[in-house]
Amino acid sequence: MTDIAFGVLGLGMGKAHCKAVQAARGARLAAICDCDPDRLAPCTDEFGVKAYASYDEMLADPEIQGICVATPSGMHVEHALQAVAAGKHVLVEKPVDVKAERIATLAKSAREAGVTATAVFQSRTDPLHKRMRTLVESGRLGNIIGVHAALPWFRKSSYYEGPHGSWKGTWEMDGGGSLMNQGIHTVDLLQWLVGPVASVFGKFGVYDHDIETEDKTVALLTFANGALGTLHTTTCAFGGVLNRSILIHGQKGTIHCADGLRAWKLMDDEDGSEEREMLAFYAPPDQRPEGETVATDPMAVGSTGHRAHIEDLVDAIHMGRDPAITIESAQHAVEIANAIYESGRTGREVTIDRA
Ligand SMILES: NC(=O)c1ccc[n+]([C@@H]2O[C@H](COP(=O)([O-])OP(=O)(O)OC[C@H]3O[C@@H](n4cnc5c(N)ncnc54)[C@H](O)[C@@H]3O)[C@@H](O)[C@H]2O)c1
Repeated sequence: MTDIAFGVLGLGMGKAHCKAVQAARGARLAAICDCDPDRLAPCTDEFGVKAYASYDEMLADPEIQGICVATPSGMHVEHALQAVAAGKHVLVEKPVDVKAERIATLAKSAREAGVTATAVFQSRTDPLHKRMRTLVESGRLGNIIGVHAALPWFRKSSYYEGPHGSWKGTWEMDGGGSLMNQGIHTVDLLQWLVGPVASVFGKFGVYDHDIETEDKTVALLTFANGALGTLHTTTCAFGGVLNRSILIHGQKGTIHCADGLRAWKLMDDEDGSEEREMLAFYAPPDQRPEGETVATDPMAVGSTGHRAHIEDLVDAIHMGRDPAITIESAQHAVEIANAIYESGRTGREVTIDRA
């Protein structure tokens, strides 16, 4: 089978898409596009493919079969719908959009057009997270009682400044701050691991950056299965010395991950052999890596997860199946984040009505 030819729109995080497409089985990078010449020129040198300053022109290129959308979050659905209208398959960066209604429109339009559409939530491709999900689904934790996540990250003021920073921390284009931007992976993981969230209480504020949305959010979550949860996200934790942590406990066990596995305690693991094996296999690194990590620098993300998404999309196109992450399945995270913001504004618990 011939490789699917991709064009990448937006060359900030989009550079990771370019690398992922080049590394992915069954895909090839055919073109890149950015309206900022200072972004386009160096990427043209680096990737050596067709370069477009106009998205319309890239969409009109008959060679291109798939588009990666990596523009500011509030533009995602608009750009993805243009790709769908041009008959291209599409991979959309997280969050698929800042408004759930627009995400629903994209899901419907892509299905009607017969193109395959998927979303980036690379945390779902992490082998440990997959094991955690299989465990929860197996029922071995028993009824889930508590779900607790924290993301104490740090972003310098400069992250929110300049031509490619000023959309960050705005309601219109970022849809929020530490929760909708950095925290949305964690929100998605929680609902992917444990199931939908039925209602939320939330509080948020701006503490240490010159932005309109928030740089610290805390929330109480009630899951549809009855479990209670807490969620904390921030870009104010100076130093960014801690990464995401997730604790899930049920009647029959407790699991905890934070930069690797910290606890895997199950009642039915009577001799502790599974616990020892899991802790050894998913051990946290002995030391923090030198230099910047994703807790301090978004560009430290890497492209491994994106490559998995591209390979899944290519296979889904060939097999005529849904991708692992459908647009529909990426919508609930945005519903949860927006419900937390609504609760923070109104001071009331907000119920999430899922379509
Ligand atoms: N998956 C992850 O872990 C991860 C990490 C970082 C960012 N992101 C997401 O990636 C997206 C982009 O973030 P970023 O930090 O790269 O933003 P950015 O502002 O640095 O880059 C966006 C690029 O899109 C270009 N652009 C905007 N509109 C355009 C248009 N109409 N035509 C052509 N080019 C256009 C801009 O010139 C800019 O270069 C966001 O949605 C963000 O949430 C995801």
